[in-house]
Amino acid sequence: MTRRALPLSRVYGLLEPGPVVLVTTARRGRPNVMTMSWHTMMEFEPPLVGCVISNRNYTHGLLKATRECVINVPSVEIAEAVVGCGNASGANVEKFRKFHLTPRPATRVGAPLVEECFANLECRVVDTRMVTKYCFFVLEVVKAWIDPAVKNPRTIHHLGNGHFMVAGERTKLKSRAK
Ligand SMILES: Cc1cc2nc3c(=O)[nH]c(=O)nc-3n(C[C@H](O)[C@H](O)[C@H](O)COP(=O)(O)O)c2cc1C
Repeated sequence: MTRRALPLSRVYGLLEPGPVVLVTTARRGRPNVMTMSWHTMMEFEPPLVGCVISNRNYTHGLLKATRECVINVPSVEIAEAVVGCGNASGANVEKFRKFHLTPRPATRVGAPLVEECFANLECRVVDTRMVTKYCFFVLEVVKAWIDPAVKNPRTIHHLGNGHFMVAGERTKLKSRAK
């Protein structure tokens, strides 16, 4: 195999786990929604999720103040809205209205579910020790919702530079992993 050097700035496109998700937050009755692909599972149960949310984003301050959010998992059908929410700031744009998304009340947190997403994870911030250094929040999922009608969701995965992969084919292999 002939290899060539990959610029370090492109490494993230190889390892980003996806799926791209929408993180919702709310303060004083005003909801916001942000696109995120830098997240990782950290524990099975209770589910813990680590997320990098830049301090340049409006969401960062909201999450720090309220310690609550919802991780919403979209499929390719609303990809344009997903990218839109990742290129506009809630500091000056009402993104739910602009991108035709519908907020629905959650049961355990003040942030809303996104109706158009097939899965919604209500989360509380449980560890902020790496927020100052890495903008890394550890979230615990306290309630999870799924649309049983969606059988094989075509999630979107960010490859970098505006390129995305759409999940499709599935296979089952023998594995000890849960
Ligand atoms: C595909 C995609 C993935 C993104 N992933 C992240 C991420 O993991 N962390 C982050 O801080 N910003 C990420 N962003 C950028 C934010 O979504 C963007 O800065 C957004 O405008 C922030 O919104 P807010 O200011 O309303 O919080 C991503 C954007 C796109 C388009």
